Amino acid sequence: MIKLNGIKKVNVAVFISGRGSNLENLIKCSKNKKSKFKISLIISSSSKASGLKFAKKFNIKRKVINFNNNTLIEKNLLMAFKKKHINIICLAGFMKILSKNFIKRFDGKILNIHPSLLPKYKGLNTHFRAIQNKESYSGCTVHYVNSKLDSGKIILQKRVKIFKKDTAKSLAARVLIQEHALYPKALNKIINDH
Ligand code: GAR
Repeated sequence: MIKLNGIKKVNVAVFISGRGSNLENLIKCSKNKKSKFKISLIISSSSKASGLKFAKKFNIKRKVINFNNNTLIEKNLLMAFKKKHINIICLAGFMKILSKNFIKRFDGKILNIHPSLLPKYKGLNTHFRAIQNKESYSGCTVHYVNSKLDSGKIILQKRVKIFKKDTAKSLAARVLIQEHALYPKALNKIINDH
């Protein structure tokens, strides 16, 4: 669990791999006067991630990291975290697996958003699989990250109805709207609970 020890604003590092709409949304929410968190660092697993543009737009430090080299990653990340006094890590469309070592080191401080009602549909193609299985609902989940994929303790979930005419694309778009509401809510919840 996070120990805030009187910190006024929690410094958050957001990890992305692509578009970054959850990142942009978290940044916008952090601008709210009452926000208890600040997005202080953007880490991307790819130099091609279009979400990197938000670093420039909002004047936030960014770092592209090669997640295939474990020892280098940890060294690079730890240095960047120290500089920015990072308290919490939010994975937002981050498509790499973090090392067990790294997860252990930040135990209880890494959050992830996943586009399904976990524990159902861990992994990829969640909407497609939910539709194929004729589920009535899909949704999204914010959870703590542990060493098993999409399996950490759930913080908040939101259900989204699946309609007969839905495709994976139309469902993903409706779920994304709920993701944008859920992630800041979950982040504020864990901050307020401490
Ligand atoms: C979001 O739908 C997020 O839930 C999902 O990727 C999308 C990223 O969108 N994450 C995963 O599938 C993680 N396994 P964004 O880059 O626009 O935030």
